Amino acid sequence: MPMNIAIDGPVGAGKSSIADQVAQRLHILHLDTGAMYRSVTLFALRNGLFNADGSVKADDLKEMLPQVNVSFKLNAATGLPETYLNGEMVERDIRGMEVSSHVSPIAAIPFVREALVAQQKAMGNEKGVVMDGRDIGTVVFPDAELKIFVTASPEVRAKRRYDELQAKGQPADYDDILKNVQQRDYIDTHREVSPLRQAEDAIVLDNSH
Ligand code: DC
Repeated sequence: MPMNIAIDGPVGAGKSSIADQVAQRLHILHLDTGAMYRSVTLFALRNGLFNADGSVKADDLKEMLPQVNVSFKLNAATGLPETYLNGEMVERDIRGMEVSSHVSPIAAIPFVREALVAQQKAMGNEKGVVMDGRDIGTVVFPDAELKIFVTASPEVRAKRRYDELQAKGQPADYDDILKNVQQRDYIDTHREVSPLRQAEDAIVLDNSH
């Protein structure tokens, strides 16, 4: 019987890489929920839904949210999933610093989380997915057959993001990235709705080395 696997942890701990490999080995789907929050953020940036101070024009976003459709398709050449926003492949756009530095306030909005969690639950209903994020073992799939909580030190995680961006030829500054990692850790663990926390029945995996 196929099972659902929940992988949670802070930014840059290696959740996505682990999930990709698990998905390939078990021939199941990998759903990267961070990519969904990132896609909504890209949509908000493109539609002028941020105020100058970085806060979100929440009323406007709420009205436009039904127009946002995020989906995943497997790239046959790489064997890896790619993220589509309203039919456009946005994998590269959603990984840059601009989206990274705007995503936390978007992910803290209750109506955004409600909409995306509902989609995620529907995607896992058939069973047989590996899903990574912050609240998968606690909120999305509290009954997942396997829950893994991946951690690593902030410095190691920042260095990985830095190397990843460099490898893709995207501009990167280590100190900026470390600051962004620490800021996102703070917001992700302190927000009111579904803060990042380890499920009681999760297996902890320290992925620093
Ligand atoms: O894993 P990531 O860096 O791609 O996630 C982007 C942001 O989305 C991150 O700041 C936390 C948020 N997120 C979340 O709140 N809940 C999830 N299930 C996944 C991501």
